[in-house]
Amino acid sequence: MSETIRPVTTQTLSKMAAKGERIAMLTAYDFPTARLLDEAGIDVLLVGDSLAMVVQGHETTLPVTLDQIIYHAEMVGRAARRALVVVDLPFPEGQLEVGRTLAAGARILKETRCRAVKLEGGSEQAHRIEALVTAGIPVMAHVGLRPQNIHIDGGYRVQRDAQQLISDAQAAADAGAFAVLIECVPAEIAAQITAAIQVPTIGIGAGGDVDGQVLVTNDLIGLTNGYLPRFVKQYSDVGGTISSAVQQYAAEVKNGNYPGPEHQF
Ligand code: KIV
Repeated sequence: MSETIRPVTTQTLSKMAAKGERIAMLTAYDFPTARLLDEAGIDVLLVGDSLAMVVQGHETTLPVTLDQIIYHAEMVGRAARRALVVVDLPFPEGQLEVGRTLAAGARILKETRCRAVKLEGGSEQAHRIEALVTAGIPVMAHVGLRPQNIHIDGGYRVQRDAQQLISDAQAAADAGAFAVLIECVPAEIAAQITAAIQVPTIGIGAGGDVDGQVLVTNDLIGLTNGYLPRFVKQYSDVGGTISSAVQQYAAEVKNGNYPGPEHQF
């Protein structure tokens, strides 16, 4: 008999945080990886706009389009049986008029099986968060370092304005966000935010006193070429495994060892 799977909802996350049970979240961009992460017990999968950098090979998150993120979200949504799948509102869908943000959020829920969106920003996004939630679209807010703001901020820097960060997170929670992601903020400030707001906090480069953690999966498994931020812990070397497998394949094709008799009809 197959085991009944109870899908993670936004309410599940609130209950986990209330019980002090940590939330594990990772990014996913395709069906097989999302299936593996879901089966491994990851609570939340994020179809992040980091897709632009780690899958498409761009230097920032800005180039990925709504159509492209929906294409990937549909695969992840279909793969996830238990995890809550959250999809980033890509630039500039969350920056232009509210109607456009609503239309983008509605497309994501309608065309994928994903059940929430993520929106970068805090106080200045309160009206958009409220409009999305009123329309039935759950929102995870994203405060601290906001990669879509790179050309205003001039780089990826640790955000240290405690008062601003707390009021951003509070405004997002008051507007109806079901969780707040905190990126690149000193651990002490992230802890203050977590104590101040009523919804779960998910940290990335924000220390351990938050309700959950998120990382870009490609960074964690060793599939990112080049620079890794200090907060990343690399748990395996999948890039190295792929390289050595394909080098061995190429050598065996060239020296005639592949295919062997067992691979032939
Ligand atoms: O797009 C992304 O991957 C993110 C990270 C914060 C996880 O937003």
